Amino acid sequence: MTKNAVFSFSLLLIFLFRCCCTTAAAQVPDITKILEKPGRFSILLRLLKSTGIINQLNGELQKSNTGFTLFAPPDKAFSDLRSGSINSLSDLQKVRLIQYHILATYVTLPNFQTLGNPVPTQAGDTSAGAFPLIVSSSGNDVEISTGVVNATVGSVVYSDNNLVVYQVDKVLLPLAIFSDYKPDSVTVAESNPPVSAKVDKSAGVVSLPMHGMLAFLRIAVNIAALAL
Ligand SMILES: *[C@@H]1O[C@H](CO)[C@@H](O)[C@H](O)[C@H]1NC(C)=O
Repeated sequence: MTKNAVFSFSLLLIFLFRCCCTTAAAQVPDITKILEKPGRFSILLRLLKSTGIINQLNGELQKSNTGFTLFAPPDKAFSDLRSGSINSLSDLQKVRLIQYHILATYVTLPNFQTLGNPVPTQAGDTSAGAFPLIVSSSGNDVEISTGVVNATVGSVVYSDNNLVVYQVDKVLLPLAIFSDYKPDSVTVAESNPPVSAKVDKSAGVVSLPMHGMLAFLRIAVNIAALAL
């Protein structure tokens, strides 16, 4: 009786295992679902759709033997950009920007070390001033430099045998499009010092006589107290 139960339970397990694994193997990952699920890649997803790259990528994933790596900046990375940075791009520039986030190879974290620089992306041309992607890594710490921004490769959002999606903390801005890019913070830093210097100066000028007045008052009070 118990033996029988164990036997049928194993059968059930084998059945469930086969069931789940054959479906997974037959299924091509749907990038839309992968990026929708965490709820923080809506801007990237919108760009992947509006450029048509998502259909291309989903199609190529079915044929590819080498797989793909996608660097996924979250919405916060896009909102950190100087306003209008993306909206002012032409359609072709948007395509290149998104292609720049895709490698036509499946790269695990330790394998970034084995890549030769500059790393080719789907955007093509890796020559100076174009779309070079420079990767530097030690162990599982991977940094990406575009010549405009330095980004850190973060958590794995998704991974199967054919596609890996990594979160990156910055939008990878390619030199060919953003060579003149200045982040907002730089502009603020440049315009701020003269203003704050002025305030400090006048604050000092005001506080000195105040100090003197207070000291004088205290002495006057002391003298009055003595006189009484
Ligand atoms: C990126 O990192 C390199 C090397 O550490 C540094 O020289 C460069 O200034 C950094 N660029 C930016 C935009 O932070």
